[in-house]
Amino acid sequence: MCGIVGFTGRREASPILLEGLRRLEYRGYDSAGLVTGTGNELHLRKKAGRLAELAKHLGMHPAPGCHGISHTRWATHGGATDRNSHPHLNERNDIALVHNGVIENFAALKHQLQSAGVRFRSDTDTEVLAHLISHYYHGDLATAVRQALALVKGTYGIAVIAKAEPGLIVGARLGSPLVVGVGEDGTYLASDANALAGFADKVVYLADRQICTLTETDWEIRDQDLAPVSVSVADIGNFLGNGDAEKGDFPHYMLKEIYEQPESLANAMRGRLANDDATAHFGGLNLSAQQLRQIDRVVMTACGTSYHAAMVGEYLFEELARVPVEVEYASEFRYRNPPMDRSTVVLALTQSGETADTLAALRESKRMGHTTLAICNAVASSIAREADGGVYLYAGPEIGVASTKAFTSQVCVLTMIALYLGRTRHLSSAQGQKIIDDLQAIPDAVRKALECHDHVNRVAAKYADARNVLYLGRQYLYPVALEGSLKLKEISYIHAEGYPAAEMKHGPIALVDENTPSVFLVPRGNVFDKVMSNMQEIKARGGPVIAIASAGDREVSAVADDVIPIPDVPEYLQPIVTAIPLQLLAYEIALLCGCDVDKPRNLAKSVTVE
Ligand code: M6R
Repeated sequence: MCGIVGFTGRREASPILLEGLRRLEYRGYDSAGLVTGTGNELHLRKKAGRLAELAKHLGMHPAPGCHGISHTRWATHGGATDRNSHPHLNERNDIALVHNGVIENFAALKHQLQSAGVRFRSDTDTEVLAHLISHYYHGDLATAVRQALALVKGTYGIAVIAKAEPGLIVGARLGSPLVVGVGEDGTYLASDANALAGFADKVVYLADRQICTLTETDWEIRDQDLAPVSVSVADIGNFLGNGDAEKGDFPHYMLKEIYEQPESLANAMRGRLANDDATAHFGGLNLSAQQLRQIDRVVMTACGTSYHAAMVGEYLFEELARVPVEVEYASEFRYRNPPMDRSTVVLALTQSGETADTLAALRESKRMGHTTLAICNAVASSIAREADGGVYLYAGPEIGVASTKAFTSQVCVLTMIALYLGRTRHLSSAQGQKIIDDLQAIPDAVRKALECHDHVNRVAAKYADARNVLYLGRQYLYPVALEGSLKLKEISYIHAEGYPAAEMKHGPIALVDENTPSVFLVPRGNVFDKVMSNMQEIKARGGPVIAIASAGDREVSAVADDVIPIPDVPEYLQPIVTAIPLQLLAYEIALLCGCDVDKPRNLAKSVTVE
């Protein structure tokens, strides 16, 4: 979603700001802008559309100065237009601001400002902040920011500059991340440390309600009353993913990330599986064996793909650890008040660690006194820092908007946690060891599953014209059916529905005709015969069937129109292996539809607003 980059130092700011924004492009945005300062003037440049538009504009109208702030915007209030792009200026054009988050009481504030004669130039919620800060500004920007923010309800990560204070950037956060970077050439501010890689050596994360001031050679972080606070400064390397954030030889990040899965799965398991006691170990769970035993219920909460991984987690925890689990959309859970007793642990799953709904659900659970845990990919993200304990995926940066490797790593980590919980309960050492052996074989199984790519290409070519696709699976593979359908719709814009295979008789089967293919997840396992019957029901109604099935399964190929083969793995690990052809299928169909796979329309990588 929105991104912020600021710089003050001894180099021209605009190339640094543009490069920083480029690194945040993957988060999703629809306009971009920057403002630089040269003593007596602010130079504002902003454009709807991709960063390339802004770069072109800057080519014709350079923004000079060694001090500036910049932004990529994902529209919330007001369309994606030049006018609504950030930065926003006050009426005198001497204060400029960029903002991530949502000002919830903007309508009331705007009304008050307009009644006092202020003229607005955009439809955004953000602009009220520029005018409010201007109202309180008497030569001290940090004080004006503090006074303005005291009136605001909502979430913000902001960066502000004033013409009269050259070289100064003021930042503040509440519910939207901000990080200060310290480098040889100057001082930086960003919403994500990835924007600062190669520029800053050290970083400092702001906590909620903190305000920072940056100058060319110095920085300071203060609380909401502007009293200095002590903070920890860390090497930036600790916060960047351990994977390569470039595409390499791959045409898209998504394809690269699909192919990285044997490695990302190995990374998720590295050093965590112990043959000695046939269990898993985690550095950051922060729970004693006794506390672990006392967990008698887990609520998993997440959004999107992470929610689907949590649904797999429900099957895993219940089967391997006999611990009851409920899975809740974070956006719903945060406003519900379900009865939960003290021993219920809340587990948040998130790739980015910044999803606003998941963060809010985690905070609400903490407020209620529950132990909170997180499974997270982005190191030092808000959720990783706020949960009582957690497990990192170590999948490396996931840049493609469609989540792929995070899903399989989440399922892998959930399997290890289920093993760990199970071993404190009923799982014998032999059963624990069997799970370890199965897990260790998974990277190779995924490598083999990737060999289905040619089959996928043929299937994609045959069905790319479909306007509706059904995804059907049962038990462990029902959440994978949901995930497969999400992948297809988000990057190809083809309507797709995931269902438990038997449930389609209760309504969705009405959609079936010769133009509506059904993708069946049907590897060998306990419910194989049942799924085969569901497949026959679709065939009987003239619906084309694509089967994801165990390699060489003749029974399946006798019924299905097309078969994509995958290697056999134990049932509880099938979600990992069956996800691979579904990711590839969505990718190839999206390409055939001419879609921008890494930056699908309307979507953001990290959804930091409600
Ligand atoms: O970063 P998170 O895992 O919290 O993100 C949750 C969803 O926004 C995310 O999974 C989204 O659904 C992806 N675009 C799916 O591919």
